[in-house]
Amino acid sequence: MKEVFVTNNPEETLKIGKILGEKAREGDLIAIYGDLGTGKTTLSKGIALGLGISEDITSPTFSLMEIYKGQKTFYHFDLYRIESENELNNLFFEEYWEKDGVSVIEWPERASSRLPKNRIEVFIEYINDFQRRITIEYPYN
Ligand SMILES: Nc1ncnc2c1ncn2[C@@H]1O[C@H](COP(=O)(O)OP(=O)(O)OP(=O)(O)O)[C@@H](O)[C@H]1O
Ligand SMILES: [Mg+2]
Repeated sequence: MKEVFVTNNPEETLKIGKILGEKAREGDLIAIYGDLGTGKTTLSKGIALGLGISEDITSPTFSLMEIYKGQKTFYHFDLYRIESENELNNLFFEEYWEKDGVSVIEWPERASSRLPKNRIEVFIEYINDFQRRITIEYPYN
């Protein structure tokens, strides 16, 4: 299934994330693709809200991964700074999405072939300074 939205401000992107978070099931992996500054972290914040996480999430750029506890556990990855296959091995992140939580990955292209096939893919495209096109592809009909 595929859904396409156009958001007119960050709040609308947050809201789409919140709905995604509310619908997410344990074990889900959401890969968020998009250029620098398009709104991947904004969408992730919305997902966290939808998962019932009250903590303010920040971009985990320097830590590669942050764990938040809500009604469900939220594993937030940002692979922007991954530089080698070895670093990816050390992060050993596969074990997380097999657990009882929801994983979100910013810059999933850095992990390319390591991602499971049954993931939800989100593409965020810049339209102008205020608008983004958000395409969500579910691995089922
Ligand atoms: N419709 C919109 N949806 C989301 N963000 C928007 C929108 N319009 C403007 N923005 C702005 O775009 C920026 C998005 O920042 P954000 O950190 O979410 O992006 P990112 O994709 O995570 O960046 P990075 O690649 O650095 O991780 C914010 O400054 C936000 O205010
Ligand atoms: Mg980000």
